[in-house]
Amino acid sequence: SNDHETSEQRMKEVCELLQTSVGYYDWVGFYFANEAEKTLHLKAFAGEPTDHTVIPFGKGICGQVAISNKNFVVADVKAQDNYIACSITVKAEIVIPLFKDGKNIGQIDIDSHLEDPFSEVDERFLEWVNSEVAEIL
Ligand code: SME
Repeated sequence: SNDHETSEQRMKEVCELLQTSVGYYDWVGFYFANEAEKTLHLKAFAGEPTDHTVIPFGKGICGQVAISNKNFVVADVKAQDNYIACSITVKAEIVIPLFKDGKNIGQIDIDSHLEDPFSEVDERFLEWVNSEVAEIL
């Protein structure tokens, strides 16, 4: 069994599974909130390493979702003015808040190199992934 595996290791496996299984999921990561500092912290990811391991609430797509508690689907990152670029190859992004006991404690963030690849199917699927991850926290 995986009794000795930490939740961060399990989340990394989830990131790797999603990134390798879905062709247009090029970068997959989980950020979690530090409520006292009002910052998001990258806890697990698959894809290219990013400089943006700490993101203030309100900044970028991720920081906006920390405050809004709402899914944010970006068809074209160039059309966003409050956006943090991690790589010039990224064209689209989806961020889905992760709720534990009804509270927005973090999020899954996915970048794509394709234009406008995300649909409501991705939103429902990633909401389910987050609800499963919440159970191991
Ligand atoms: N693009 C994100 C920052 C995180 S990177 O995509 C990994 C944003 O605007 O919040």
